Amino acid sequence: MERELLIAPSILSADFSCLAEQVAKAAEGGADLLHVDVMDGHFVPNITIGPLVVESLKRSTILPIDVHLMIDNPERYLDQFIEAGASWISFHVEATNHSHRVIQRIKEYPGVKAGVALNPATPVTYLHHILEDLDFVLIMSVNPGFGGQKFIPNALEKIEVVRHMIDSKGLDVKIQVDGGISAANADRVVLKGAEILVAGSAIFGAEDIPQAVRGIRKAAPI
Ligand code: DX5
Ligand code: ZN
Repeated sequence: MERELLIAPSILSADFSCLAEQVAKAAEGGADLLHVDVMDGHFVPNITIGPLVVESLKRSTILPIDVHLMIDNPERYLDQFIEAGASWISFHVEATNHSHRVIQRIKEYPGVKAGVALNPATPVTYLHHILEDLDFVLIMSVNPGFGGQKFIPNALEKIEVVRHMIDSKGLDVKIQVDGGISAANADRVVLKGAEILVAGSAIFGAEDIPQAVRGIRKAAPI
């Protein structure tokens, strides 16, 4: 399977007072997706943004919007986020009793990519009966809720195991890794099999945003 690196800056660490400008800088640096972290104060101890912001972003950038739902019962809000402009969307398997149903619902929208996210302590066995239906798996390399946390090294083994599951079934499912990613560890996660790198503080916390995106790409061996 042809591998391609996608860089997904997470706006969680952006300056929301000039969000469109910050996003434009990430695009200038060659970002591929725009990662939007949605938190509800229940599934994670933080509250962020809703579909309205996704709708505004959709009008202000040509980057595909990748919505990461960190909310309980994602089935309740899924449609709103897709209708607002998400073209990639992931939800946490820990947040619903009905992962299969949620995936099928996403797939009713032509062209929208479906992903499931796994917290650091969630075993990969959750993927066994749904992997074939997915476009991507999001492996959390921090506990979800906040930007700027330290990368949890156990994620490396998990990436490797999921890569093996995907390849042994001959599937075209991408692995996204999220949390504590920077130019300093991009090579390690990519070597284990990740193809989509989410980075928040390493990009929007940098003095030069376009250069930070380029730096991650340069550090990654695909
Ligand atoms: C954390 C979010 C991440 C976050 C990553 O719950 O899912 O997308 O923005 O931020 P960094 O790259 O700073 O760890
Ligand atoms: Zn995220």
